[in-house]
Amino acid sequence: MIITVGGIKGGGGKTTAATNLAVMRRAAGFDVLLIDADEQRSSSEFVSQREALGHDAIPCVQLVGAAVRTQVKQLAPRYADIVIDTGGRDTASQRAALTVSDLMLVPFQPGNFDLWTLEQVERLIDEVRSVNDALDAVCFISRGYTTGADNEQAAEMLRKSEVLRFVNAPVLGRKAFNTASGEGLAVIETRPRDAKAVMEIQRLYDAVFGPDDGMEAGGQRRNGGISAA
Ligand SMILES: Nc1ncnc2c1ncn2[C@@H]1O[C@H](COP(=O)(O)OP(=O)(O)OP(=O)(O)O)[C@@H](O)[C@H]1O
Ligand SMILES: [Mg+2]
Repeated sequence: MIITVGGIKGGGGKTTAATNLAVMRRAAGFDVLLIDADEQRSSSEFVSQREALGHDAIPCVQLVGAAVRTQVKQLAPRYADIVIDTGGRDTASQRAALTVSDLMLVPFQPGNFDLWTLEQVERLIDEVRSVNDALDAVCFISRGYTTGADNEQAAEMLRKSEVLRFVNAPVLGRKAFNTASGEGLAVIETRPRDAKAVMEIQRLYDAVFGPDDGMEAGGQRRNGGISAA
């Protein structure tokens, strides 16, 4: 599956989702390629940091503009899954990525500034669907609040979208995500584990890849990598 983590607002957790999902997918035994289609190079930094600290490498390439489309098409047969991280704007790279993707995954932070971009994201998806009508689009709450009603209010608005499917897999604002990323790790890999963070990202993983994908017979996750324990 080719997944573009995208959107129009910066800082909402795209790179966090892209890198965590790529690591988890690899831990589940799939050949994953991470593509950094953001000139900020955050995913590339994540992978470099990971390698520098001696953790297993996640294949990652940096691509910009139309090359995202042509290269992804060439690379796709070699990988089970490709996760493309894009920048926080409507860029040529993101559009190119979406034309060859099966799924667009869009994090939304609860709060007006993010939610105001929903219509723009919907327009972008509508436009891309004129050339890639198979594009599925999913949104989720990212960097949500741990208290209050803001997440639910945001969810209510996102559920109304007729262009994006809302998945109830909120990833809340937790220090563990920030700390893990700084070390080039997914939250499933840090010790001690933040059980809530792990459970949240696991729910998102299941929503994207399916709950049983990555399971071996007997219910054990391959490599023991992504159990929520
Ligand atoms: N669930 C979370 N809890 C706490 N911190 C988070 C969470 N998700 C992301 N962050 C932090 O917020 C910042 C922005 O996150 P991230 O880089 O993933 O967003 P982005 O959408 O990729 O941003 P950009 O648009 O700049 O590419 C980072 O410092 C990251 O560690
Ligand atoms: Mg980013």
